[in-house]
Amino acid sequence: MISESILEGERVRLRPVNEDDLPRFVEWLADPEVSRWLAAVGEPPTLDDEHEWYEEQRANPDGVLWSIETLAGKLVGNTDLRLAPHADRAELGIAIQDKTRWSQGLGTDAVRLIVEYAFSELGLHRIELQVDEENERAIRCYEKCGFVREGLLRDHRRIDDRYSNTIQMAILAHEWKAR
Ligand SMILES: CC(C)(COP(=O)(O)OP(=O)(O)OC[C@H]1O[C@@H](n2cnc3c(N)ncnc32)[C@H](O)[C@@H]1OP(=O)(O)O)[C@@H](O)C(=O)NCCC(=O)NCCS
Repeated sequence: MISESILEGERVRLRPVNEDDLPRFVEWLADPEVSRWLAAVGEPPTLDDEHEWYEEQRANPDGVLWSIETLAGKLVGNTDLRLAPHADRAELGIAIQDKTRWSQGLGTDAVRLIVEYAFSELGLHRIELQVDEENERAIRCYEKCGFVREGLLRDHRRIDDRYSNTIQMAILAHEWKAR
């Protein structure tokens, strides 16, 4: 589903995705420097693909999706939770797709907002994610938010002609509340 909740942090606002956002996502995902880090993105999506994805997300009761914008209202990317309701668990995905905005603290602010929402509003027990071992910026962002490394998935992704390792990370509700 597209989240109805608007979450505001120190640097970003999470708000419902709308169809006007889709052309920017298509434009940004066409850049290999951006899509390279996103396991869910294979071939760069066309605008039709992105509309299909949007409709799927709207209809999916086990997903929660937001757009990420700056407090000034500039779209920079999106983020989602994929819920496993019977396990009180969700998988987190995030992409600041506007690469001119990387390493300015927006991702960390967004992750903290989602984690707080997931534990406090949705009552989840565990939030997990998978990240490319070479994605040092993302790993640092997640560690700043309290995620810990749980394991290494060897040769988990194929990128062009080689394989890369994936790190499994997670945070539990009591770890978040103790921070
Ligand atoms: C990963 C992502 C969400 C992080 O958000 P961000 O706003 O760029 O990151 P932040 O500024 O909040 O935090 C990044 C941290 O990593 C550090 N960092 C940046 N590049 C680094 C590198 N090459 N090595 C180590 N640390 C690095 C930054 O200095 C910052 O740490 P600091 O605050 O201690 O200085 C964002 O970069 C993104 O969406 N990238 C493209 C898609 C992607 O990788 N998605 C995640 C897939 S799992």
